[in-house]
Amino acid sequence: VGAPFTPIRLIPDEATIVILDQTALPAREEYARLSSVRAVCEAIRALRVRGAPLLGIAGACGMAIAASDDSHDVSLRRAAADLAATRPTAVELGAAVEAALGAALAIEPAGRAALLWQAASAMLDARRAGDARIGKAGAGLVPHGSAVLTHCNTGALATGGAGTAFAVIRCAWEEGRLTRCYATETRPLMQGARLTTWELLRCGIPATLLPDTAAAALIASGGVQVVITGADRIAANGDTANKVGTLGLALAAQRFTVPFYVAAPHSTFDPRTADGSAIPIEHRAAAEVGGFEGQRWAPEGVEAFNPAFDVTPASLITAFITDRGIILPPYAQGIASLLDER
Ligand code: MRU
Repeated sequence: VGAPFTPIRLIPDEATIVILDQTALPAREEYARLSSVRAVCEAIRALRVRGAPLLGIAGACGMAIAASDDSHDVSLRRAAADLAATRPTAVELGAAVEAALGAALAIEPAGRAALLWQAASAMLDARRAGDARIGKAGAGLVPHGSAVLTHCNTGALATGGAGTAFAVIRCAWEEGRLTRCYATETRPLMQGARLTTWELLRCGIPATLLPDTAAAALIASGGVQVVITGADRIAANGDTANKVGTLGLALAAQRFTVPFYVAAPHSTFDPRTADGSAIPIEHRAAAEVGGFEGQRWAPEGVEAFNPAFDVTPASLITAFITDRGIILPPYAQGIASLLDER
């Protein structure tokens, strides 16, 4: 069982954050100091820091860094626009940046940096508490003796707390319900192969890695009793954007009557997005599909279809596991009351 690690650390006195550089894992545990908005934007775009809830915290920290440098309106507005434009799909990033900007503009410039550092730190504390509640709420949905399939990375690396789907898996393991966790590679950037298996092994959870293309066969053969993923944005009707490949898992799970759960904090639900068709989907560079880490396997010049996310219709989701409890269909109503809670 590995030593605890810190995916993000705030150092307000130095107007700096330190992130665990997720592009170097699992080969190297390298930490990077980020002290400018430009550096935070680069780290987000390159997926050095990633995962929907952690992106929210990184965005809030980026605004605090901006205010420490220059707390005037123009500079903060520019920082907010730059940070929000880095990755469009995860709702937490844009929402956290917008909230920080609003809070800062409501007070005099002199107090803004302190306020934003305090808010970012409170957000991280709230995340840790929220993730623990997701884990507890979801573990009971995993029948004793189950193997679980998950996709992408939803652990501490993705949230700063215990994770979302990963927190459920970990709690189910600690409660003696789980026999094994299957983790997809998650092409093309391998968050499952590089990050989820690393986190599973550190927690001592029996782990099996599979190519994304083997997931339907695993589900069809009865090899898993539960499929559980995280989410990057959940629309008001329950349609859910998550790492590309999630839709295929949900379809296979429905066809072979395996429950498909989505675990996410309430901050991932976006009441301003009516349904999945309105969720902005990030498309990434063709080079990510044509090769990996400098090794090229496709011929130069070929075009690629490389969406980072897909949308799973609400009708394929058995339940949402949130930091405010479980939501069952009909989702529009359940999501509205979840977001009404103070
Ligand atoms: O592109 P990424 O690695 O930021 O995508 C992350 C995911 O899709 C996760 O599954 C999602 O953020 C759920 S998070 C806890």
